[in-house]
Parts: sequence; C-alpha cells; structure tokens
Amino acid sequence: MDVFEAIRKRKAVRTYTDRPVPDDVLDRVLRAALQAPTGSGSQAWSLLVVRDEATRLQVADLVIAGGAKYFAEMRPRRDATPEEHEAECVAYAEKILPTYRIAPVWVMGLLVPRGNYPETMAEGGYVDDLLSVAFAMENLFVAARAEGLGTVPTSAFQRFEKDRLREIVGLPADVDPVLVTPLGYPESFPEGLPPALKRSYRGWKSLVHDDSWGNTRD
Ligand SMILES: Cc1cc2nc3c(=O)[nH]c(=O)nc-3n(C[C@H](O)[C@H](O)[C@H](O)COP(=O)(O)O)c2cc1C
Repeated sequence: MDVFEAIRKRKAVRTYTDRPVPDDVLDRVLRAALQAPTGSGSQAWSLLVVRDEATRLQVADLVIAGGAKYFAEMRPRRDATPEEHEAECVAYAEKILPTYRIAPVWVMGLLVPRGNYPETMAEGGYVDDLLSVAFAMENLFVAARAEGLGTVPTSAFQRFEKDRLREIVGLPADVDPVLVTPLGYPESFPEGLPPALKRSYRGWKSLVHDDSWGNTRD
C-alpha cells in the first residue's frame, strides 16, 4: 500500500478483534512513529506500549468511561434527568466501544519534557513538543493502516481520567499522555464519513486558500 492509499484509508477504528499483532509488525509501526519530525530535534516524546492483559483492560475501561463522559458533555440532554442522561451515555459508550477490551495492544503518545528550551522559549517549546507528539502519532496511524491495523486517536479520557491513567502505567507527573490508541486488527475499516459528520464536513477544496485568505478552491 503506498503512502497516499494508507493516508486515505486511515480511519478512526472503534471495533477490534483479539487477533495478536506480531512483534515485527509492531516494531515497524513504532519505528515509523518515531521517525516523525521533532521540534529542535528534542525527541520530547516516548511511546508506552501496553500488551499486558490486566493493564490493557484497565486502560480500555478508562477510555470507555472517558468516552461516556465525553458524550455526556457533547450530546444534548433531551427530556432526561442528569442521572438518566449520564446512564444513557454510559450505555452508548458500552455499545460502541466494548471491543476496546479485547484489542491486543494500546499505545500511548507521551510528551516527555526534556528541559531543552530556555525560560524565554518555554511556551513555544511546549507547543513544539506537543505538535511533535501529534506528528509521531499520525505516522503511527498511517503506518499501522499500511500494515492492516486499526487505530483511533483518543483524547477524551484525558480531560477526565489522566491522573488515573498515570497511576495505571506508572507515569511521572510531568509526563503527559497526549493521545492513546488501541492498535489491532479491526473487524473492518470504516469507509466514507459517518452520517452525522457527512452533513457538516468541509470538503478539502473549501479548506485550501490560494494566495490570500478567502480565495478557496470551491
Ligand atoms: C486530537 C484528536 C482527538 C480525538 N479524540 C478522540 C476520542 O477521544 N475518542 C474517539 O473516539 N475519537 C477521537 N478522535 C477521532 C476523531 O473523532 C476522528 O478522527 C474524526 O471523527 C474523523 O474521522 P476519521 O479519523 O475516521 O477520518 C480524535 C481525533 C483527534 C485528531
């Protein structure tokens, strides 16, 4: 699969099988991730790979619970008490994400401060480090797709459950789990856009401005 096809076919995968990921395949994907550009060459990142069954179950439970909280905030509450709304969102997360519990691997993209920037550049340095983690994770998502593996960038847990995640995998307080993803062979890869997004999604030509703002290709 060439790089354009892997980019095009990478989709957020939320249903996994328990088929194991061979070590050599996993290593190829991890190496590709860490070949991403890194601000100031800092490598202010690490990847934490969770394969231990008990640990990945704890991560999956946390992500599913984080998903429910995300839905509770994002979805309008219609004719329901806060408790009913919360229960509905938990049920919804359990309905769409249960195979997270059988995905054979989880990968966490971590921002690891390296102390490379002077005080005057602390803010910009932080942004560069964060961007660099995102680039590494995108490399991972695309490389995984080329290997037939599914992923989904997941951050919803972090607004709610970051400290618990730190506890589960022993992260120091200054190491930031920016994104996590299951990594596994999917039941199938989604194609196209889900109906909810189809209505509002902007086509690429409306997002490209030539020479000056407003001059889009549409
Ligand atoms: C920064 C970021 C955070 C995301 N967080 C979540 C998340 O917490 N849970 C989830 O299921 N998907 C999450 N996604 C996946 C997006 O919902 C998904 O990429 C988007 O709907 C487009 O679908 P596609 O990736 O299949 O093209 C996240 C994506 C990005 C880029």
